[in-house]
Amino acid sequence: MNIAQVDYDGLIPNNVGLGQDVRVKHALEKWHPGYINWWNDMGPEGFQESLVYLRTAISVDPKGWAKFDYVRMPDYRWGVLLAPQMEGRKIPFGLHKGEDAWQEVPGEYRAMLRRLVVIQGDTEPASVEQQRYLGKTAPSLYDMRNLFQVNVEEGRHLWAMVYLLQKYFGTDGREEAEALLQRRSGHPDTPRMLGAFNEKTPDWLSFFMFTYFTDRDGKMQLEALAQSGFDPLSRTCRFMLTEEAHHMFVGETGVTRIIQRTCEAMKEAGISDPNEIEKVRKLGVIDLPTIQKKANMHFSLTLDLFGNEISTNAANAFHAGLKGRYREDRLKDDHQLESGTYPVLRLIDGKIQNQDAPALSALNMRLRDDYVVDCNVGVGRWNKVIAELGIPFEIKLPHVSFHRHIGEFASIKADVNGNLLSDAEWEKRRSEFLPSDSDREFIESLMQPQFEPNKFAGWIAPPRVGIDNKPGDFEYVKIADA
Ligand SMILES: [Fe+2]
Ligand SMILES: [Fe+2]
Repeated sequence: MNIAQVDYDGLIPNNVGLGQDVRVKHALEKWHPGYINWWNDMGPEGFQESLVYLRTAISVDPKGWAKFDYVRMPDYRWGVLLAPQMEGRKIPFGLHKGEDAWQEVPGEYRAMLRRLVVIQGDTEPASVEQQRYLGKTAPSLYDMRNLFQVNVEEGRHLWAMVYLLQKYFGTDGREEAEALLQRRSGHPDTPRMLGAFNEKTPDWLSFFMFTYFTDRDGKMQLEALAQSGFDPLSRTCRFMLTEEAHHMFVGETGVTRIIQRTCEAMKEAGISDPNEIEKVRKLGVIDLPTIQKKANMHFSLTLDLFGNEISTNAANAFHAGLKGRYREDRLKDDHQLESGTYPVLRLIDGKIQNQDAPALSALNMRLRDDYVVDCNVGVGRWNKVIAELGIPFEIKLPHVSFHRHIGEFASIKADVNGNLLSDAEWEKRRSEFLPSDSDREFIESLMQPQFEPNKFAGWIAPPRVGIDNKPGDFEYVKIADA
């Protein structure tokens, strides 16, 4: 079988020879109804019968891997797709550097590896749950389609992790696969595993910020896992990254289009001061300071996903060859990090300052630093749009100590520039930095559906090009009467 091609004959599309792997095939077929139940319960509400113009992977060849067609979401062909095996691949880092990559789980690392797969897996259905009501307030059919595309692909990412659990981790893998369908985002008793995945995504600005900032954490984690010495995990993550790129595109361009519309409306109305919030809001667009506050919130919540700056778990996973650094294969050092240091931003004697830590212990910090650099690229593009429309305003990422719940800065309060605040000052100034109830109410008031082809809600500009090069009036979703 050509590994690049996907076998669509059975219940579960795959390029892993599932037809010959009876045990795993049965396990996945047994898991399938529970997954469909989960999708029907927790997937996009109100649009399960609608025809959505979705891409489905037909190959894992980076060129031309997807085809587009109208699909009812419950009929989407979720499958198991791994990037092709690389002949003679070696473990690229850690204690076992240079040995042949593992095709089976190494016994001594089984628990650690399972934990990595489960944590990644848990984030995938969580975001679908967080976004399940957004279809009803979509600002256009184009945006609605993009939301649903992200949702079905997060569903597929869950399949990707569940395949690894079912194939390589026996009974406990099966139990973990089941548990992934049981937890619920934001549930008081059975929440998802990580904080940011239990927050609400109440409006479309939040959705775009989430896909920009939080899906980008996904990218960083997948890049680090794509380096893994456990080859099936590496191959799985490499293909997931192909899909992930679209999610961040949705986020970046979504925020860009909101900013563009705001600045255009301000220009038309002759408002040049971005802080004239009430005047700007009267135009029916979202003022730039509120967009900044949403960015502050989603960025800071996402930073928590990187865990403690100094971490023995991260050190162990690297040492074992299970989780590498961002683009490990492009780094030029010994890839073992037994010696050497990395500067870590810490709270020392009440001041935020850099302190060198052993490089192996500082891997979470390092991945987070790489993440911040990556985030800033798109922020620069947002600012270009604002500058081109002549509004004196710049979106800035807040300081990493701002609004944190995990790690070095969880115990302190800081403003967006990293100045320490007393609890009382923080309470007083909180709504300067984060969306207030009235900000949220205003945004909510704008969330009116626009379901006519070629039309867009007044607070967001149309995209420059359509999906799959479709023209502006293309009907991306054919909404079925509920
Ligand atoms: Fe994902
Ligand atoms: Fe994603």
